[in-house]
Amino acid sequence: MRVLLTGGAGFIGTHVHDQLLAEGHEVTVLDSFRPDVHAARPARSPGLVVGDIRRADAVTRALDGVDTVIHLAAKVGLGVHLDDIDDYVSSNSLGTAVLLKSLGNIRNLVYASSMVVYGEGRYDCDDHGQVAPGPRRTEDLEQGRFEPPCPHCGAPLRPGLVTEDAALDPRNAYAASKLNGEHLAAAWARETGGRVTALRFHNVYGPGMPRNTPYAGVAAIFRSALERGEIPRVFEDGRQRRDFVHVRDVAAAVTLSAAALPRQPPFTAYNVGSGTVTTIGEVAAELARAYGGPRPVVTGEYRLGDVRHITAASDRLKNELGWKPAYDLQTGLEDLLHSAG
Ligand code: UD1
Repeated sequence: MRVLLTGGAGFIGTHVHDQLLAEGHEVTVLDSFRPDVHAARPARSPGLVVGDIRRADAVTRALDGVDTVIHLAAKVGLGVHLDDIDDYVSSNSLGTAVLLKSLGNIRNLVYASSMVVYGEGRYDCDDHGQVAPGPRRTEDLEQGRFEPPCPHCGAPLRPGLVTEDAALDPRNAYAASKLNGEHLAAAWARETGGRVTALRFHNVYGPGMPRNTPYAGVAAIFRSALERGEIPRVFEDGRQRRDFVHVRDVAAAVTLSAAALPRQPPFTAYNVGSGTVTTIGEVAAELARAYGGPRPVVTGEYRLGDVRHITAASDRLKNELGWKPAYDLQTGLEDLLHSAG
């Protein structure tokens, strides 16, 4: 493949770049080197276009000679501050739109999406079956009631695994802009006869994970705390569930999906998770143990925009494309601790 990789200098992008080169593909990277993510501007190098995805001239230049596009460039993070709402829409929605408009005869697109498009994960009530709880109320969180109750009877719910056909319910600006990108790409595919695969990433971690930026995921935050000799602080009661997927497994999913595009229907969505459900408390404990640091403290703090449980079934990606994550959580967290990034 001759690939344009947008966001190729970022955390996931760097690993995808390595994987593409290892597989023998030709790669052009387009990256804006956002100052809130990258401390320094890069040296000039062949195969790198420094430019903003919203600038059609930069995008067109980067697309020269390309047959497949992997679109990772985005403003990531929590998406809960209203101050950032226009930046999310501009970077993610408008950025995707400019890219789509510039694609010309290119028909193959991988789009980086997120599990956040589902909102809260899957829940079942003993009496009401599968239900969709609304956003958690501040007064419940204040009182330490972290589990969302059944919206019909208030009973406790059983969390489960989300599949790709679950209802989409983005609950913050980041999630809304990511889902908007999926919709725009699907519209492009219908209009042009192109094919797009949207990869809904779970909590990605591993070497090169951003730290001390607004984009730092919890595993990087815990690692930084341990390195400073501080106690990792686990929010809520630590029993919120996630699926942590290693960045090299994610990179493999990206390149596999890109290579499969010519055989795909106009729009496909795949969840990308390790398949192992874990809690934030367990991740903190495992990192502290592996580092030999102090035991984490469960603080009861909360972030209003957080969902309680979100865990995915990634069977579609495994069954259809033969993807197989290589890292279990323990090995992956050791890798995170011992990496330089
Ligand atoms: C993460 C990503 C999001 C991605 C999503 C996909 C980040 C910042 N967010 O969201 O972009 O779309 O996965 O599933 O990478 N927590 C603590 N202590 C802390 C910080 C956080 O206990 O010091 C808790 C949070 O309250 C939350 C959990 O850790 O319950 C995970 O937080 P975070 O790493 O920010 O990830 P997500 O919100 O799941």
